[in-house]
Amino acid sequence: MYSNAQSLNTVTLGGVNLTLSPPDKSEPEWIGQEEILKQILACWLVVGEKDLPLAPRIVGMPGIGKTTLGMVAARSRKQPLYIFQCTSDTRPEDLLITPVLSEQGKISYHASPLVTAMITGGICILDEGNRMNEKSWASLAPLLDHRRYVESIIAGIQIPAHAEFRCCVTMNQDESTFEIPDYILSRLQPTLSLGMPAERDELAILQYHLPFASQDLIEMTVQFLQTAHKLDLDYSPRDGIHILQYAIKRLGQDPAHPLSKDDAWREAIECVLGEEALDLQGLAERKRRALGNERLPMGLGDFFFGEGDPLHPDMDR
Ligand SMILES: Nc1ncnc2c1ncn2[C@@H]1O[C@H](COP(=O)(O)OP(=O)(O)OP(=O)(O)O)[C@@H](O)[C@H]1O
Ligand SMILES: [Mg+2]
Repeated sequence: MYSNAQSLNTVTLGGVNLTLSPPDKSEPEWIGQEEILKQILACWLVVGEKDLPLAPRIVGMPGIGKTTLGMVAARSRKQPLYIFQCTSDTRPEDLLITPVLSEQGKISYHASPLVTAMITGGICILDEGNRMNEKSWASLAPLLDHRRYVESIIAGIQIPAHAEFRCCVTMNQDESTFEIPDYILSRLQPTLSLGMPAERDELAILQYHLPFASQDLIEMTVQFLQTAHKLDLDYSPRDGIHILQYAIKRLGQDPAHPLSKDDAWREAIECVLGEEALDLQGLAERKRRALGNERLPMGLGDFFFGEGDPLHPDMDR
């Protein structure tokens, strides 16, 4: 399919020399939640001649482990891993092939991490896919169905995907994102939803990332995060890692005048998450009200008496 590589990181396709992107070399570990890892690996299986791999959508709150999960799944298949970071100004050429002016004034073509994975039989994570606009997504429509190719307008070539090529997309459930059109969403299936880790797993995650942290600080942080999860507040394992990192740095800063562990930990909560996080119950209540779960509809009494006023006619409701 591709003519002989001139060097390890270039290939020629349709008469065009392409410089390939370097693979990601990190080796993250996944702790707990085995089922969702199995689900991704199932999506990437090909069970018969006419079968095609699926491109799952991994969704969940920020900092919950979506990218890590995709990376670990890719690593376990022992294929080269490429990560494409999607942003709101990603253009189709960034996603596929970018022209670069070389020193001799000639144009050379650089294959994106996605196209490199397609050529080398690697795995590509399209990270934070909901940040990318519709025009860029449209260029991937043929890749994500039975056609399994992309067209680079810039290089004037069609690029078929290697049989071993696999991909997945991570998406955040927050509002700072584009609406992805339905014809693309229908190609990014199934949707695998990553939830907050259980207490035992969250403890193991923090211990793994912060082996130098004292057990009591880790346990305080896990208790805090577990309470937040139960109250439906969006604090993640990543927040836990940052809280502990900061608290430990503050404790180690001035051994002659050490802060107490409690003070350092509270300061870390405040600096990482904001003062409001020191009162999780109050924060959850305010969030619940903001979402419109307060007593509705407004009655005449609401105009004359404040909420919680003992004289309010609804107080005995
Ligand atoms: N189950 C887990 N095992 C190991 N590490 C985890 C796990 N869950 C979360 N982490 C750690 O939490 C941090 C955040 O994870 P990651 O960056 O994958 O989250 P994300 O969901 O992709 O976040 P974002 O939405 O901001 O991109 C990383 O340091 C990651 O290693
Ligand atoms: Mg991520």
